[in-house]
Amino acid sequence: MTQSLITYSQLPLDLDRDRLPHHVAVIMDGNGRWAKHQGLPRIKGHQKGVDVLKDLLRCCQDWGISALTAYAFSTENWKRPQFEVDFLMGLFERVLQRELAEMIAENVRIRFVGNLDTLPQSLQDEISRSMDSTKDNSTIEFTVATNYGGQQEIVQATRSIAQKVKEGILEPEDIDEKLFENHLYTAGLVPPDLLIRTSGEMRLSNFLLWQMAYAEIYVTKTLWPDFDRREFHKALSSYQQRERRFGKISK
Ligand code: FPP
Repeated sequence: MTQSLITYSQLPLDLDRDRLPHHVAVIMDGNGRWAKHQGLPRIKGHQKGVDVLKDLLRCCQDWGISALTAYAFSTENWKRPQFEVDFLMGLFERVLQRELAEMIAENVRIRFVGNLDTLPQSLQDEISRSMDSTKDNSTIEFTVATNYGGQQEIVQATRSIAQKVKEGILEPEDIDEKLFENHLYTAGLVPPDLLIRTSGEMRLSNFLLWQMAYAEIYVTKTLWPDFDRREFHKALSSYQQRERRFGKISK
């Protein structure tokens, strides 16, 4: 056990440092099922999920991965029982309060993407504070998708471009992939190279639809609260066995 902890504090030797993904995105599924298997209430799964996410962020820093994006709350998640929604909103706020000083000290830039205007005001304040105070940090870009939906993101980008065309700021011919990307919530962030989804479902669930165009997808049956460094190692090994052709033919 001690041996593996020592090993996992550094990039595992069988991984090629030059072929790591720059940006990893995660769909953290399975918190509720994990809690149920342990005979615990669902919220215990979310609490454990936060610890796992925190260690993954640290692991990315340890192993030299420069961007991590996590799907924390989708636009569809409002349909969950009110108690669970309230718990999650409170949890996000408490995590930000608790972790901000450490993120500043560790040079982490945190960014939230999604329709943030409809989140509880106290959470919005905490989000603004954390984004403002880490905006110049550069060791790792940590993005949290909250009240996020990929289709909604594309619609809002289209609206804002259409408005600029209407006002004469842009011509329709100016619209290309780069310009469109710059109107997404994730403007300025490189697209994910690897998407990891836990708990076995083979779906994108409206996550980063535009940005995921060329991402490699890794699905594991492991539930999110059990997704540790060993599991991340497996995901990266699988990624490094893929041939990323971006539409080209093999050499
Ligand atoms: C999916 O499991 C998980 C969520 C909807 C919440 C994930 C949120 C966190 C781990 C907190 C992140 C916090 C911050 C501030 C970054 P599920 O409930 O859908 O599990 P199930 O499919 O087993 O029911």
